[in-house]
Amino acid sequence: MKTAELAARRAIAADLAREAAGLAWQMREDGMGVASMKGAQDFLTEADGATERFLRERLEKHFPGEMILGEEMGGAVSGDGPIWILDPIDGTANFARGSDRWCVSIGMALGGRAALGAIARHATAEVFSGATGCGATLNGKPIRAAATTDVTRAIVELGWSRRIPLENFHAMAQRAMAAGAGIRVGGSGTLGLVESAVGRLDAYLELHINAWDACGALAIAREAGCWTNDFDSGDWLASGNPVGIGAPALGPFLAGLLNG
Ligand code: IPD
Repeated sequence: MKTAELAARRAIAADLAREAAGLAWQMREDGMGVASMKGAQDFLTEADGATERFLRERLEKHFPGEMILGEEMGGAVSGDGPIWILDPIDGTANFARGSDRWCVSIGMALGGRAALGAIARHATAEVFSGATGCGATLNGKPIRAAATTDVTRAIVELGWSRRIPLENFHAMAQRAMAAGAGIRVGGSGTLGLVESAVGRLDAYLELHINAWDACGALAIAREAGCWTNDFDSGDWLASGNPVGIGAPALGPFLAGLLNG
């Protein structure tokens, strides 16, 4: 796909993400975002389903027949063509509890790799976007990874879920803190990843995350000059992978934290 076509898709995705985040926020304002549970610590709200349906309908209008994988409605996807990858609300537990730390994430894979991202956070009116060869921006202004070189000044967010044994998470946190890094756990993997792309965090690491949480942020982070791991490899679309994004000078240290 030519760079101009990717740039046009990125602009459309950014508008859709912004609109979808507004829709989810309004549903919660209207009292419709009632939480149910998919499992322990795994929240689902009415807004998750409504937002994913909205995104699917709009993408189908813009790009008829293209494949879509979404957190709530799934999708059988494969091949080298464009694949849209949607997290209608990332940070659903935060959203369900009235917190503002959640976002809508649209990613697109091309040639089997993360190629485009558009991520909207309603509370701060922020839209992060990027695409391979097109740069990365926050509300239209170019973004860069943090220039941090000293681990004892680094702030690293660690993602946690029940998909990974607790002792593995503890071991990663132990390695980070023993090296002198400050740690955070914020409940939205996508925001942690994309805030690493803009340099508010020095890194986001999680031992397992799904494609819909990470595809968009990864495409943005690569264009922002971040160190990233090889998240979009192997069976990442179906099964997810470990993920790491961070300040380029800290890459070897961050890889060590992630890989043990
Ligand atoms: C979850 C959040 C969480 C991360 C999990 C994700 P969801 O996504 O991003 O921070 O640690 O791995 O599953 O359920 O809020 O869309």
